[in-house]
Amino acid sequence: MCGIVGYAGPNDTVGALLDGLRRLEYRGYDSAGVAVLDAAGAVSVRKRSGKLARLEELLEASPLSATGTGIGHTRWATHGGPTDVNAHPHLGDDGKLALIHNGIVENFAELREDVAAAGIELLSETDTEVVAALLGIEVARTGDLETAFRAVVRRLEGTFTLLAMHRDEPGKVVAARHHSPLVIGLGEGENFLGSDVAAFVSSTRRAVAVAEDNIAIITPDAVRITDFAGDAVEFEEFEVQWDAEAADKGGWSSFMAKEINEQPDAVANTIRGRLDGGRVDIPELTELGDDVLRDVDRIIIIACGTASYAGQVGAYAIEQWARVPVEVQLSHEFRYRDPVLSDRTLIISVSQSGETMDTLMAVKYAIERGVTTISVCNTQSATIPRESDAAVYTHAGPEVAVASTKAFIAQITALYLIGLHLGRVRGTLSEEDSAEAVAQFEALPEKVREAVDTHEQVAQLAHWMADTRSVLFLGRHVGFPIALEGALKLKEIAYIHAEGFAAGELKHGPIALIDHGQPVFVLVPSPRTSPLMHSKVVSNIQEIRARGARVIAVVEKGDTAVLPYADDVIRIPLSDSLFDPLLQVVPLQWFALELSTAKGLDVDQPRNLAKSVTVE
Ligand code: F6R
Repeated sequence: MCGIVGYAGPNDTVGALLDGLRRLEYRGYDSAGVAVLDAAGAVSVRKRSGKLARLEELLEASPLSATGTGIGHTRWATHGGPTDVNAHPHLGDDGKLALIHNGIVENFAELREDVAAAGIELLSETDTEVVAALLGIEVARTGDLETAFRAVVRRLEGTFTLLAMHRDEPGKVVAARHHSPLVIGLGEGENFLGSDVAAFVSSTRRAVAVAEDNIAIITPDAVRITDFAGDAVEFEEFEVQWDAEAADKGGWSSFMAKEINEQPDAVANTIRGRLDGGRVDIPELTELGDDVLRDVDRIIIIACGTASYAGQVGAYAIEQWARVPVEVQLSHEFRYRDPVLSDRTLIISVSQSGETMDTLMAVKYAIERGVTTISVCNTQSATIPRESDAAVYTHAGPEVAVASTKAFIAQITALYLIGLHLGRVRGTLSEEDSAEAVAQFEALPEKVREAVDTHEQVAQLAHWMADTRSVLFLGRHVGFPIALEGALKLKEIAYIHAEGFAAGELKHGPIALIDHGQPVFVLVPSPRTSPLMHSKVVSNIQEIRARGARVIAVVEKGDTAVLPYADDVIRIPLSDSLFDPLLQVVPLQWFALELSTAKGLDVDQPRNLAKSVTVE
């Protein structure tokens, strides 16, 4: 939440900041702003409520003459509404310094008293302006931005990434992180700061992940990192594995459309290097030690939202292959329930961004209790994989649309691979079953491509249904989390009431919702590989049809049993039941996208949301 960019260098400062903000806009789009040192040596700010385009208009009307030092912010509002005044940057030291912030300062009320006592009048309702004012007081007292910055960050409680610059120290941007992401981009004669590497990937792919409770200081020629006490910290650089083009929309109508289309590659890249003959071998797990994995007597998957549904799908497969009980808990519930953990518990966190605060806190909670942690993550060097004992990266490439699609499919793929690895190490998976699963994986990218090709049919359906006010989704077994995911996608980007149910649960209450014309998507299990579940779901379809539902059945090709009872049938390729979710979800993603489009909504940037939820 909130995207931050910092720049120190000789090139077009406003251009660098805007390019970074454009790429980070998915993190928040309530308002945006930039501050630069202008040609007269003063701090100049432009900021505006609304999306980045509004700031760009302002900059066109009222350009900035920047001289190589700047910070930029795109906001997801927490303290104070999304107004021009509350937009970042905020000023301190009588306008001599500018500061931006991602996170929440929890003790801001107490700090505000100090600011008031110093006779400083605040203009906004934000916690950030309090920090800017405090920093101003400290700079005036110490005469040095770095010393002042260290003193201020030590006083803050809550979560923050802060970036600040001062008129009297041109060419320098200081940054601090506490439970919020921060990376440095290493350029040639220029350096960058960002919430993630997207902020600078069009200029450099050399990056450094700033560790927790550290301060980074960048100038055009140098980068330093210290802890909050000012002691130097060593750091390692890494190379970003994708280029700026991967995070561009290309010719697609939306990032979401592009990312749905990229799903065959997301699966293929996540599998790559992890299939060894007829078996799965994940080197990162081998490093963890087979003894550790053999000893595990319980697995808890922790995640939020879409990632938690991937976790639910993965839980079925891991239990089946590794014969160990798996439960899925929402990260934000996990640590508050005083969970029963032991040294034989394994925590698997699932997070596209690797920065979701709820999940990070849950992982830290587990680590503090000595529990082994594995991170399934899509973002290189993000905080969660770095904190965990092992990281199994999904290789879906950068996901920009707020609604997760390709990361979801890659998460399920990674969890399945983990299940197969565990099954092999624990001796619970026969060679035959392993070889069969590997064969399924090898064929998967092509089948996902076929599922992507349902687009046209689903688009037509969605456009006919543009006035629909409520949609229900039914699934059984691995189809149940897919029903939940289908409903979430629709709520998220089409703002339609939608609910997912386990098909068997219907008669325990939800069937009362069925009225004449109520659209219901039903994810039908394969009649070949799951005949029993198939017949049960066909019965469920008959029950809702008898009560007037409009049934849209997602079935495998060749399944004719539902034809008499379905109003629409979407066909997906044949696969083993456990692999069906990776195919069934695709038409549901298209449906949400097309319904959102039919309603004239912004598919990539739905209201009130932001990607990478870095506040609790
Ligand atoms: C929905 C969506 C969210 C995320 C959730 C977790 O489309 O994207 O529900 O899945 O916020 O985010 P990560 O995976 O980054 O931890």
